[in-house]
Amino acid sequence: MPGTPLIERAPCSAGDPLRLGVLVSGSGSNLAAVLDAARDPARALRVAAVLSNVAGVRALERAVAAGVPALVEDHKGRSREAFEDAVDAALRAHRVEVVVLAGFMRVLTAHFLERWKHRVLNVHPALCPAFPGMHAPRQALAHGVRVTGCTVHLVDAGVDTGPILAQAAVPVLDDDDEAALTSRIQAEEHRLFPAVLSALAQGRVRLVDGRPRACGLAAR
Ligand code: GRF
Repeated sequence: MPGTPLIERAPCSAGDPLRLGVLVSGSGSNLAAVLDAARDPARALRVAAVLSNVAGVRALERAVAAGVPALVEDHKGRSREAFEDAVDAALRAHRVEVVVLAGFMRVLTAHFLERWKHRVLNVHPALCPAFPGMHAPRQALAHGVRVTGCTVHLVDAGVDTGPILAQAAVPVLDDDDEAALTSRIQAEEHRLFPAVLSALAQGRVRLVDGRPRACGLAAR
């Protein structure tokens, strides 16, 4: 394989599953897909903690049902730095190696990201750099594109702008509404996100000429 692994793991963790901290704010269907994948030892993934900035969301219930620590850090009434420091401390307390944004509705700043360089991944329901931010399927329909999709990328301080690791294309059908298109995109997210995380755990996400590249993902 070309290049060098994107993340270095401590020698004592070689062969152990990659410890994920999943940040959520809502329903957690992507969390469910990652939890499912983590049941297969061949995927080399473990969800070490799930953390929400909103109490009572469905994603936290999914974590509890899976026997995973379900944590809440409310962003309200705190500075961004104080909120991010609390999230950082909670993740480290659970020995998280990689942070997974799965419907997490807060923008993380450089204050947090510099401490987790190359270790924060997001899934976005569009083919980046198209349609960043909220309501990407609605934006796709408004623009009349015939193909959209989803993107797994490293997180930088922008909104859905970090280096792209993998994408999957999804057709827009003539009679699509926002709900139908969103659900077709999410089905692809649920396949792609765990596949990229597994690739990362197995050293198949590599820096090649300074650009991260996921190797050995099935082409679609
Ligand atoms: C997903 O569509 C993801 O692309 C976006 O937020 C949504 C979260 O959905 N970032 P869920 O909470 O995983 O069901």
